[in-house]
Amino acid sequence: MPRVKVTRTLHFSAAHRLFREDWSDERNQEVFGACANPWWHGHNYEIEVTVEGEIDPETGYVLDLKVLKELVQARVIADLDHRNLNREVSWLDGRNPTTENLVVAVWERLEDHLPDGVALDRIVLRETPRNFVEYTGGGG
Ligand code: NI
Repeated sequence: MPRVKVTRTLHFSAAHRLFREDWSDERNQEVFGACANPWWHGHNYEIEVTVEGEIDPETGYVLDLKVLKELVQARVIADLDHRNLNREVSWLDGRNPTTENLVVAVWERLEDHLPDGVALDRIVLRETPRNFVEYTGGGG
């Protein structure tokens, strides 16, 4: 059967601050600029989750997109939406909540939770309409 990639986009809003505790305020300001503001700031994130697999000959689906939506909603969005990413999300503890670190953490939340025969292919995380990151797995 043909193998096809299917994508679901979801949305969440969250607050964060980019900084390192082991750096001075000056150094944090120099590297992270306005994102180091100690009083937080927010983003309206868009996340695109792409999975890949064979088309099921019975249903014509790779995966019912409702199933994918509910999985991302339960394992990712429910924890992140309207939260402070530095303080309120246990699976982000110890990670500076850059878009890069966030996309890898989201991957880890999803990769072992897909139905049999369906694999995570790519996650795109948009922090603003102009800034986004992409992760396809792998690396240290
Ligand atoms: Ni930011």
